[in-house]
Amino acid sequence: MTESNARKILVTSALPYANGSIHLGHLLEYIQTDIWVRFQKSRGHQCTYVCADDAHGTAIMLRAEKEGITPEQLIANVKAEHEADFAAFHIAFDHFHSTHSDENRELAEYIYTACRDKGHIAVRRIKQLYDPVKSLFLADRYIKGECPKCGAGDQYGDNCEACGATYTPADLVNPYSVISGATPIEKESEHYFFKLPDFQAFLQEWTRSGTLQEEVANKLAEWLDSGLQEWDISRDAPYFGFEIPDAPGKFFYVWLDAPIGYMASFKYLCDRRDDLDFDEYWRPDSNAEVYHFIGKDIINFHALFWPSMLSAAGFRTPTAVNAHGFVTVNGAKMSKSRGTFIKARTFLNHLNPSYLRYYFAAKLGSSVDDFDLNLEDFVQRVNADLVNKLVNIASRTANFVVKGGGVLSAECAEPEMVQAFIDRGDVIAELYEKREFGRAMKEIMALADRANEYIQLKAPWAMNKEPGREAEVLAVCSVALNCFRQLMTYLAPVLPELAAKTQAFMKLDDLAWDSRKTILLGHAIDGFTPMLARAELSKVEAILQETQSELAKETGLAAPAAAASTTKVAAVKDKPAKSKNKGPELREDGTEVIADTIEFADFAKVDLRIARIVRAEHVEGAEKLLQLTLDIGNNETRNVFSGIKAAYAPQDLQGKLTVVVANLAPRKMKFGVSEGMVLAAGPGGADLWLLEPHEGAQPGMRVL
Ligand code: 2FM
Ligand code: ZN
Repeated sequence: MTESNARKILVTSALPYANGSIHLGHLLEYIQTDIWVRFQKSRGHQCTYVCADDAHGTAIMLRAEKEGITPEQLIANVKAEHEADFAAFHIAFDHFHSTHSDENRELAEYIYTACRDKGHIAVRRIKQLYDPVKSLFLADRYIKGECPKCGAGDQYGDNCEACGATYTPADLVNPYSVISGATPIEKESEHYFFKLPDFQAFLQEWTRSGTLQEEVANKLAEWLDSGLQEWDISRDAPYFGFEIPDAPGKFFYVWLDAPIGYMASFKYLCDRRDDLDFDEYWRPDSNAEVYHFIGKDIINFHALFWPSMLSAAGFRTPTAVNAHGFVTVNGAKMSKSRGTFIKARTFLNHLNPSYLRYYFAAKLGSSVDDFDLNLEDFVQRVNADLVNKLVNIASRTANFVVKGGGVLSAECAEPEMVQAFIDRGDVIAELYEKREFGRAMKEIMALADRANEYIQLKAPWAMNKEPGREAEVLAVCSVALNCFRQLMTYLAPVLPELAAKTQAFMKLDDLAWDSRKTILLGHAIDGFTPMLARAELSKVEAILQETQSELAKETGLAAPAAAASTTKVAAVKDKPAKSKNKGPELREDGTEVIADTIEFADFAKVDLRIARIVRAEHVEGAEKLLQLTLDIGNNETRNVFSGIKAAYAPQDLQGKLTVVVANLAPRKMKFGVSEGMVLAAGPGGADLWLLEPHEGAQPGMRVL
């Protein structure tokens, strides 16, 4: 990347409200955006990612009042919580600001004044419902009553959940204020409106200029064709927000200054960084790119009001608005009672955030389709792709390099294969650029399969047992590690923590996209440390349970023992069954630590005996098994299938002594009946060592 073709890119995610916790629904967007930003940075572009808390509005004012603190205290507390959650999920904002900031006040006043001075603001009196006890105008969601059509009670002011009728709050029978319970009265006041219809022609053009996904542009065309309405941008005091210039007692509606918060956050950064110039990004003829990542529920704010306000105030408009769909869990809307309204913190209490980052990436495309987080699929996918495929490449090969001196071979034994890995980077980059992350992950995992096939074919663990083949072992493992490094370069935007571990153990200065083009030859690496434990379904279960307990705390009711989705998850076989809330304790590499103790009498039941392996053979069609014929003394032989194929070649085993569990109930397997189990140590795969008693011990001897 040269200076001249480096792009200048400003990226935002929607601003979270400063009165609630970050949950999985939010995380889809922040993770999607963060991946895209990390990808752009890795390509050498100047990409800046800003966000902020959306700190204004009635809801925040009321919550602060309920908590007995000022709104300023509330938004400071929530900001600290949000920032901690984002950092834990490796969301790397260049800056996270607040809409309740000097920068935002100045910009909001500037944009409003520019719109007003150009004649785009109308002022007129309107009637609204008012809470006479709280002295507050009531937004629709703060009014309930009986449906005017079917009489159902407790219905909100816009539609009836019982019969589906739509109406206005003034139509409700026996309406009441959700805040005080008082009967609302009608009251008139002066309001300020942004004259959106002035921008009809501009929007017709702008929404069709490649700034929006096609399905979004089509939806907007329907609204545009049916005529635009003026937008009420003022709220009466008391309101937590910015007072409108020259309009005492009138405040900007939260949605007026929220998107301006994107600019404000960037402005804050520009004021502190020499390499960023606010005007260069925001002037009308700017060559910089500006992207907003949002949910499909807030498209009208970003694709109608926002570009109109910007253009009226003499700023550039966004390069693109990228909308995504909603998150569902196990095919249903996130629900507190089902335990699926999962907060970021609750997830972090039990599972590694990299799992979620990967799963989101693996299933995300560029459309506005909803995203289903299927909890069983989540666990399976993460384990299959990350643990079994990806990390396996390094864990099966790195230690051979370390044992062989810690330096990769000076020549590449498979230049064509490594080059193919490098070349694929161009296709993967195009997919990242288009936000087709799922397709990018598929490409990457196909390469991982290829690397694993290569390792399996060469079986360095077997070669390693033959004296004089050290150079060959090193050559094979060096190819594998070069491939692994390519894969981690491609995955670094999704898995920054694994990327950092890779950088550390492979002693790499960086994992920038183009760095992959140099093959590592004669390159020193460090010892390999386990990178990622397996995801456990029992931990997912614990998350659902904790989410339900949170709800129970909020409502004062006992948590249901197991709600719908919990049962579904629990019904799936986890790795060794454990108590519901306590998942197995794991070592870093994913193997299980069995912490429970047993009585001596239990141990004594195990008939451990010395056995001699009289024959060892491959099993046709079995990926992991060897078939062993064991002499266990007293003229008795046993047929045992053992998952040690990755660690041993059959000819190495014949004649060896080992230890067998002789009284294990016979197990019928696909390939025959297994009549016992041989004991081995190690994390698994190629790293497995059969227990091997000294010669002198005799088949049939009991192990005490
Ligand atoms: O819908 C929301 O959660 C809003 N707080 C998003 C604001 S995005 C931007 F326009 F500020
Ligand atoms: Zn009704």
